[in-house]
Amino acid sequence: MFGCTNLLSGKGKTVLFVIFLILTVVLALVTLWMFLMYRAFSYGGKRQMSRQIIEGIAGYIRIPDGGKGLDVGCGSGALTIAAAKRNPNASLYGIDRWGKEYASFSKTLCENNAAAEGVTNAAFQKGDATRLDFPDESFDAVMSNYVYHNIPSKDRQALLLETLRVLKKGGTFAIHDIFSKSKYDDMQSFVEKLRAQGYEQVELIDTTTGKFIQPFEAVWMELSGSALLVGRK
Ligand SMILES: C[S@@+](CC[C@H](N)C(=O)[O-])C[C@H]1O[C@@H](n2cnc3c(N)ncnc32)[C@H](O)[C@@H]1O
Repeated sequence: MFGCTNLLSGKGKTVLFVIFLILTVVLALVTLWMFLMYRAFSYGGKRQMSRQIIEGIAGYIRIPDGGKGLDVGCGSGALTIAAAKRNPNASLYGIDRWGKEYASFSKTLCENNAAAEGVTNAAFQKGDATRLDFPDESFDAVMSNYVYHNIPSKDRQALLLETLRVLKKGGTFAIHDIFSKSKYDDMQSFVEKLRAQGYEQVELIDTTTGKFIQPFEAVWMELSGSALLVGRK
């Protein structure tokens, strides 16, 4: 007790003050960083990066009339809805496990967003990207945005194959994620593997050179390695 009183007088107080000051500055910087990221990314902000990415991915999705598309890890339903609008005569399905790290996303939010956009050809259900609850070759198109890198796995290429499993022969895929080596290992060899299996027009397109994201944005928003895997089965 007495030692503590002594420590807090003079030098001790200065040390505590400096620590408090450093923590306050760090907290303020982190808050500012998160605010700027939210503003750049959100649909409501000036930059609307999220909208650019979603519309960019949806632009690759062509579904024949009467066909079906799947959005894996649909979150708030943005990509499902964008693809549904571009393919009005197809049925779009968004699946997500919801309720874990992205607390604001839910099936109800997806349904409300679809209704607000006047979209009637999209449906949403709970599901797990690591084990999709659909038979092989169920969909004419599969898509996803920033999902698999979040899923703890030693083999994320296997997660991609699980999504491609439910794609019909001739169907298109557009999968956007952080395809860095640390998360996915060698993606070029994965591209070659798909080509060797007969997949067509397979490309891994860097989206951080201005396609969706500017190079400096990729760095400060920790999106380096973002790329779009597209092709036809
Ligand atoms: C960064 S958010 C992206 C949401 C949406 N794709 C978008 O572009 O706005 C990642 C989403 O992946 C979902 N997710 C994570 N692991 C999943 C899993 N194993 N199965 C299904 N969804 C998963 C999360 O619930 C979250 O909604």
